[in-house]
Amino acid sequence: MSADAIRFLRRGEVITYRVSNPMQTVLDYLRLEERSRGTKEGCNEGDCGACTVALGRLVDGRVVYEPANACILLMGHLHGRELVTVDDLAQGDRLHPVQQAMVDEHGSQCGFCTPGFVMSLWTLHHAGRKPDRQAIVDQLAGNLCRCTGYRPIIAAAEKSCTGEASDAWATLSREIGVQLAMLDDETDILCGRPDSFVALPAKADTLLDLYSRNPDATIVAGATDVGLWITKQLRSLPKIIHTGRVKALHAVSERTATISIGAAVTYAEAEKLLGSISVDIAEVLRRIGSKQVRTSGTVGGNIANGSPIGDMPPILIALGARINLRKLADQRIIELEDYFLDYGKQDRLAGELLWRIDIPKLNSNERFFAHKISKRFDQDISSVMAAFKFIMAGRTIGGARLAFGGMAATPRRARETEAALIGLKIDAPETWDQAIATLAKDFTPLSDMRASSHYRMETAQALLRKALEELVYGHEVRLVGPPRKEAWA
Ligand SMILES: Cc1cc2nc3c(=O)[nH]c(=O)nc-3n(C[C@H](O)[C@H](O)[C@H](O)COP(=O)(O)OP(=O)(O)OC[C@H]3O[C@@H](n4cnc5c(N)ncnc54)[C@H](O)[C@@H]3O)c2cc1C
Ligand code: FES
Ligand code: FES
Repeated sequence: MSADAIRFLRRGEVITYRVSNPMQTVLDYLRLEERSRGTKEGCNEGDCGACTVALGRLVDGRVVYEPANACILLMGHLHGRELVTVDDLAQGDRLHPVQQAMVDEHGSQCGFCTPGFVMSLWTLHHAGRKPDRQAIVDQLAGNLCRCTGYRPIIAAAEKSCTGEASDAWATLSREIGVQLAMLDDETDILCGRPDSFVALPAKADTLLDLYSRNPDATIVAGATDVGLWITKQLRSLPKIIHTGRVKALHAVSERTATISIGAAVTYAEAEKLLGSISVDIAEVLRRIGSKQVRTSGTVGGNIANGSPIGDMPPILIALGARINLRKLADQRIIELEDYFLDYGKQDRLAGELLWRIDIPKLNSNERFFAHKISKRFDQDISSVMAAFKFIMAGRTIGGARLAFGGMAATPRRARETEAALIGLKIDAPETWDQAIATLAKDFTPLSDMRASSHYRMETAQALLRKALEELVYGHEVRLVGPPRKEAWA
């Protein structure tokens, strides 16, 4: 069975919408078609949060609301979801508790950022738990304000996000859940013509078949990269195939030695399981983009895009991850590190999809460290991303996998340095220098707007030294300041 329109929930009604322009963003739909102009366009690239809307979906039978950047969200992403925007919140003259708290705490000055903040806070209002200050700051990392200095907005969050949602959505939660459940069917969707379409296959076979017949189509998962091709690079993408409805691509499983995640699993969905491998992974995940980006963006997209500065590939390569690629009935499994051939060139055939990522867990004699270095703490692309796995033989390094982003044209291992580390005694720091210096043989990093070549090399070497120190002391060694984490020993 197939359909030629998407269906989503809006203000209590199911909207059936034929997408005529595959690249149409939700922001354009709201402002230009629905004429709901409360949602603002700021940067148009997912960075400022002015366009934040909330998407509702069913998770284990419960309606969950997550923030998303409407400027890079495509209409296809709305299928099966509830769309809530800032225009919907006030009931006549009565403001929503989040809006009222923003007024009471003086959380708005020029007002341009305010609709986005209100919607981020609205999803926090519905989170079902009272956030501490750190949770509020994490929630707001993707919303920028030039006027208020944030303090009053945090005060508004503390006042209105109490763990108990009190609004029409809370009252109607059961009915909304029933409506969303009805939209969650196995119908494949294709809007458009053979030369220009947006497809949302629900069945794995339909997805594989469609892409093999249209290898020139653009695969879209969360569109946190592809969205910018549309809004910033003004590329024409006449054929778009969404992966998000195929259940197999959302599978997450844990076995004794491995964690497997489907290619369409978002950061938000993967966060808990991947973070359980190492606290450093949990910390890097918390710093990828913003809440809005992590709600939509996928680990699979971070790999498939082939970027040399994606945060996940170095982590996954250091852990020894493998990927499963599929084209129709053919599938192959390769080491993730072999996927990255050269700048902009990956080992993926025409019509072939990234399907699954298999990630080995750590053995008891293995120690793992990952560090993201960027100009800003939140919502920034790495200048250097480093991930290290040490295989210990007592207090001697028996083996190592060191992977870096931002140091070469692809995410890559430092193989010469790995070899130089073998046999080093962690209690003899005077023997480390030569191994650390070997990084200069592995990499000749570029200078660009994010960092100079010299800075990148110094940083990579300092991060390796820091990891070796952490092996010795068993807790995090900060380059500046006191240890922050619990000892792992
Ligand atoms: C504001 C902002 C902040 C960001 N911050 C970070 C950051 O801190 N760290 C970081 O690493 N990245 C960051 N990014 C980049 C982006 O969020 C990530 O690369 C993300 O993982 C991409 O996933 P996606 O699902 O959105 O991919 P999409 O944009 O949907 O796709 C990305 C690429 O992968 C391809 N693709 C997706 N799925 C498949 C599949 N199953 N098979 C084959 N090809 C596929 C697409 O065709 C496209 O080429 C940021 C982006 C924005 C907008
Ligand atoms: S307009 Fe800035 S994030 Fe969308
Ligand atoms: S109130 Fe002016 S940008 Fe936030």
